[in-house]
Amino acid sequence: MDKKSVFTGRSLCVIDDFTIEERKHLFTEVRKLKTAMQENNLPVMESYRIDDKDFGIYEVFLEDSTRTKESFRNAANFHHVKVSELNSDSSSFNKGESYADTFNTLSGYSNSVFIIRSKVEGVCRWLEDECSAYAQRNKLWRKPAFINAGDGKHEHPTQELLDEFTFLEDNNWKTDSIHVALVGDLYHGRTVHSKASGLKLFDTVKVDLIAPVELAMPETYVLKMRENGFEVRIFSSLEEYLAQKDIADKWYFTRPQLERMGDRILQRQEQLRSAITFKRSYMPLLKEGTKFYHPLPRHKVTPTIPTYLDDTSLNGWERQSINGMYVRIILLALIGGKIGQTFVPEQKIVDQERAEYIFEVDLTQMPLREKVVSEGVTPIHNGLVIDHICRGDSPSVIRDHMRLISSVLGLDEDKGGEWVSSGHKGEDSFKGIIFRPDAPDLTRKNLKRLAAVAPGCTLNIIRDGKIEKKYRLHMPPRIYNFDDLACTNEACISYPQQNEGVPAHFTRNKENLFACSYCEKTHSFKEIWQSRNK
Ligand code: CP
Repeated sequence: MDKKSVFTGRSLCVIDDFTIEERKHLFTEVRKLKTAMQENNLPVMESYRIDDKDFGIYEVFLEDSTRTKESFRNAANFHHVKVSELNSDSSSFNKGESYADTFNTLSGYSNSVFIIRSKVEGVCRWLEDECSAYAQRNKLWRKPAFINAGDGKHEHPTQELLDEFTFLEDNNWKTDSIHVALVGDLYHGRTVHSKASGLKLFDTVKVDLIAPVELAMPETYVLKMRENGFEVRIFSSLEEYLAQKDIADKWYFTRPQLERMGDRILQRQEQLRSAITFKRSYMPLLKEGTKFYHPLPRHKVTPTIPTYLDDTSLNGWERQSINGMYVRIILLALIGGKIGQTFVPEQKIVDQERAEYIFEVDLTQMPLREKVVSEGVTPIHNGLVIDHICRGDSPSVIRDHMRLISSVLGLDEDKGGEWVSSGHKGEDSFKGIIFRPDAPDLTRKNLKRLAAVAPGCTLNIIRDGKIEKKYRLHMPPRIYNFDDLACTNEACISYPQQNEGVPAHFTRNKENLFACSYCEKTHSFKEIWQSRNK
């Protein structure tokens, strides 16, 4: 364990925390271990064991579980390490203790890996930062790693790993293409949400989403799949799906979580279940070699994969569940630093988060024409002019947004005004202009706020009738450090009413939407500011 690997001490909060080549490396090791365990090849099994009684692995399950909890417990026991479990019913969570205080405390007792299941989304990402700072403050010898064992409706990355491993087994280890039908409760099912990124493992991906509208995949995951280049088709029932000819050879069922959906839905539960339950009459319509999968559990009274299919070649779900332990043994071996030293990543991680977005214009290089303040604004002698606001939006939208900008920057009590103008060249598109005579310069923090609330604008600082400074503000790569902002997802660890003291933090994605860094809910920059607490 001397040479450190890139996996040592890493957290797995979402499936994308491990790159595709890292996951492929993990699967290669799982395959070797699975063979060794099936053949009882003790020397090979031994080569994977952490074998350190002081290496602490802690399970904290705040929601029910059989497979994830017990396969992790058995995987941890395989390693001959210290395995603990927090009894949440009798813990100080019940006295109102925060996640941060609870996990900081446990990490002080020589624990290196935490496996957490919770209703609250983004918990592991938050704790990764928080417990790292605690470890440093208290000179702990190792900062802990966090494994997300399912957080609300968000992700279940270790289930995704074992699903991918099982798909690979049935794909002859080829990653060139996959055609998979996701069937069931795609709205609540975190295992299918992880597939929006997880299936990137395959070069060509075709996904058929089969669910009645009440249980449909949230739009944000459908968009993510399409952004990732997947071909996505949507069907409201198995009957509708089987009425066409292009049928997947892999079917991934999920449990309907109707109990979460209120009385109106419960009245229709039979109809909803029927739309996603396999029936004998469908059998002749299946392709040869078809496999069914299910993260399980299935309901003993109303299973969507009937039990009479257990003893057929369709059954992929039992092997899938068994693979869970092998996958989790290898994951712990990698994070624990026992293996992974031979892996050399080819993919470079690009840090786009530090990109500059506030640009001061060199006024000596600027054409004279541009030094003129826009139409409609009486040139002011001293103060601020914010120009090019919401270019292209309608005048009413621009006016609403200018009121918001003024409030966000604390300019409401200053003199001056707002103006909607057409551009220099008299084109059709409109833009907003805010002018504030005699206002002082913006602080650096307010410049950042302006970039985040009015990306694409320019800020002119006017002194003695001339532009003294000019900034062009682009959309920032991150929005954070503003106390009045919050994620809009009530289940997110950073949602103010969770009372966990987690500041909002958003990261811009390729579509220029801002994803919460904890629960990944996406927001436009306008949505972020419209929901702010004043
Ligand atoms: N697949 C899965 O997460 O099962 P459990 O809820 O039993 O852990």
